[in-house]
Amino acid sequence: MSTLVYRCLIKNLNFPKRQFISRVPRKQFHLTNVRCHGEYEWQDPKTPDEIVNITYINKDGDRTSIKGKIGDNILYLAHRYNINMEGACEASLACTTCHVYVHDDYIDKLPPAEEKEDDLLDMAPFLKENSRLGCQIVLTKELDGIEVTLPAATRNFYVDGHKPKPH
Ligand code: FES
Repeated sequence: MSTLVYRCLIKNLNFPKRQFISRVPRKQFHLTNVRCHGEYEWQDPKTPDEIVNITYINKDGDRTSIKGKIGDNILYLAHRYNINMEGACEASLACTTCHVYVHDDYIDKLPPAEEKEDDLLDMAPFLKENSRLGCQIVLTKELDGIEVTLPAATRNFYVDGHKPKPH
């Protein structure tokens, strides 16, 4: 069972954290922020300093500007605001349905894509130089004002056809 699943179990079952953790080998845990499928992205920024503005542009050119916050994953933030970014594999790097084009002013402010993201992007339709997978983009203050554009279509390599619903 993955660390994320353990964390979600603790959160969702209201396990007293210490009691649960004490039964599991310590190496299997990170005790950092608990984030289960976009739960964090449904929380509003608590202070103006936390705000990170982001604009989503859909394939028809319609723009939706949102006040996100530091730490928001842009896939889950899109789900919160009904942006049509699918995310079929729920950020497990298996589908490419979260493909976005990142505005040139911001592409170099992102951490470089890991090999798995690059490999998936190579198979994505309508690939461009500034393509990234939205599920791998987490907002930082440096990204304030970022614009991401959705491609004309995406392709789902995730085999079971699972379509996530916003939580
Ligand atoms: S949601 Fe599947 S790769 Fe991003």
